[in-house]
Amino acid sequence: MSDDDLRAYSDIVIDHFQHPRNAGPLDDANAVGEDRNPVCGDHMKLMLRIDADEIAEARFQTRGCPAAIATSSMATVVLTGMTVEDAARLKRQDFVDAVGGLPKAKIHCSVLAAAALKKALAHYRSQSPASQSA
Ligand code: FES
Repeated sequence: MSDDDLRAYSDIVIDHFQHPRNAGPLDDANAVGEDRNPVCGDHMKLMLRIDADEIAEARFQTRGCPAAIATSSMATVVLTGMTVEDAARLKRQDFVDAVGGLPKAKIHCSVLAAAALKKALAHYRSQSPASQSA
């Protein structure tokens, strides 16, 4: 990716694209969600370790464009320490705002993080709900 290609992005996007936070597998994740953009084929896997309904750790693996990687990285930062209830309220636009906005043509790239989060929380809730409300 040349510097020219990155000029349309905010400094936050460039920073998270070039220095992704929390990238890599999370072996003891108890909430995992994946999403794939059917048009470009980009893919994100979000892994959360949730302890007593609070997100203790978040990691991601994304194969995609700078906007997809930056929103994935930022999502893990935003989610860490958040309650499951608050995380469930996050929308795609929250991730766009968190990275300082995205070029219009790249807004759709933030769908990966929002969709992967939704699936990860559904995965978490599908596991022994009684023990999670304790
Ligand atoms: S171009 Fe595929 S997610 Fe950005």
